[in-house]
Amino acid sequence: MLLMNLQRLSASSLGGRSLCRRLTTQPNTQHPESLKRQQRQTQTQHESPPYKGQSFEEVVELRKQYLTPNVTSYYKKPLLIHKGSGSQLFDQDKSYLDMFGGIVTVSVGHCHPKVNAALEEQLRTLWHTTNIYMHPKLHQYAEKLVAKMPGDLKNVYFVNSGSEANDLAMMIARLYTGNHDIISFRNAYHGASPYTMGLTAHSTWRYPLPGLNSGILHAMNPDPYTGIWGGKQCRDSPVQTTRSCDCQEGQCKATDMYYDQLEQLFKYSLPRGKVAGMFAESIQGVGGTVQYTKGYIKRAAELVRANGGLFISDEVQSGFGRTGEHYWGFEAHDIVPDIVTMAKGIGNGFPMGAVVTSRKVAEVLCQALHFNTFGGNPLACAVGMAVLDVIDEEELQKNSLDVGTYMLKGLERLRDKHDVIGDVRGKGLMIGVELVADKETRQHLSAPHFVDIWEMCKDMGVLFGRGGLNANVLRIKPPMCVNRTDADYALAVIDYCCDQYMKKQKRGSRR
Ligand SMILES: Cc1ncc(COP(=O)(O)O)c(C=O)c1O
Repeated sequence: MLLMNLQRLSASSLGGRSLCRRLTTQPNTQHPESLKRQQRQTQTQHESPPYKGQSFEEVVELRKQYLTPNVTSYYKKPLLIHKGSGSQLFDQDKSYLDMFGGIVTVSVGHCHPKVNAALEEQLRTLWHTTNIYMHPKLHQYAEKLVAKMPGDLKNVYFVNSGSEANDLAMMIARLYTGNHDIISFRNAYHGASPYTMGLTAHSTWRYPLPGLNSGILHAMNPDPYTGIWGGKQCRDSPVQTTRSCDCQEGQCKATDMYYDQLEQLFKYSLPRGKVAGMFAESIQGVGGTVQYTKGYIKRAAELVRANGGLFISDEVQSGFGRTGEHYWGFEAHDIVPDIVTMAKGIGNGFPMGAVVTSRKVAEVLCQALHFNTFGGNPLACAVGMAVLDVIDEEELQKNSLDVGTYMLKGLERLRDKHDVIGDVRGKGLMIGVELVADKETRQHLSAPHFVDIWEMCKDMGVLFGRGGLNANVLRIKPPMCVNRTDADYALAVIDYCCDQYMKKQKRGSRR
């Protein structure tokens, strides 16, 4: 299979010359034999199980004809994935190491046997009733889920997606405080429903609709890498930026500057003392795994509360142990939010989400009827409970810390080696690798160049996500069951592909 990968590479990304021949004349390039050995140790060596479905061409045709034209897919030649197992995905030809987990959603591994068994048992028993009747799983699951939450965050409302969870949290914050204005960060992603699209602050994800920004303000993002301020110890990560600063141990002047900007927002753009709330992803996901400067979130939460608002942590990507040190991303910011929203990893791919808050705050929902047909349905609850069990039984939070830190350290070495890697960041298995055109100015790598590297990685059998406003960040957020051998192979592939890219650039500039 590797040979097939290499042939594809030589034919597509590298202009048709024999890769193997070229490699022998390039001493700094990792030899494909060693990559081959490494790949053999990972699970990506699996042959794809026989695929008997529609042909690739037929699927492409149906897609063109019947799906709305905005439904895009990754890669110049999209993948037709027909099976998943653990950290592996299979198309009709071969297997891939999945380092993106269906967009940070497959938390415990594709088709995990325990989760499958729980779902199978439930679908033989009861599919659906809605909450007009009681069913036992809803209550067992609610108890089990809130046991993971601190303080008085002990009431849960189940929904079906992250956007729904954030929609509801926005409404709760407005009802509870009686205020209208909500703050989110520039570069945030909180959903694509009409309500949450206002919170999401990327021009790329916003339709020109009236009212989108009604009662929404976007604060300056305290991003220590691309932001105005940032230094060499701003981040809660094993890897810091290469920016310099004169901060003493434990000090972060960048946080002071960004916090000052937030205060200005309150002074100039909000009715005094009247804010409904502030949303923050604990680590920005779609925005390219951006971590805020240390201490900012805690101070922001205090400021919001002092102005009558609630602080809402969006744990759609960063929850369920992914960040390694903690079960929830907000714990690293040393806060207990007023509302927590979750989705994605909660169901390992089953469509579900949740809003957790205190009884006192939740009571505002009693002012009217509120109903969600599928939220907390028996199938979702069975899956959700099994996911919680697997995370604990297989110590996946610990594994995220171990494998994630190992990967981050490896990526830091690659950043120091390759001019095209500008920044490496993240915690646990929530990692971002920002590709740049110029390391000094931090100018982002343009799309066609990014795609060169990213497609090459795919052709070598490793799938990474893509993120950031400029879509120049490799997002590494695999199922939390990946191991160090998988990490080694992913690192070797990034190393190899960056190396090939830089060589291609040098050859181009000599012409
Ligand atoms: C942090 C965050 N919040 C909310 C959402 C919206 O979730 P969904 O796509 O399930 O509506 C996403 C989706 O990517 C997300 O990353």
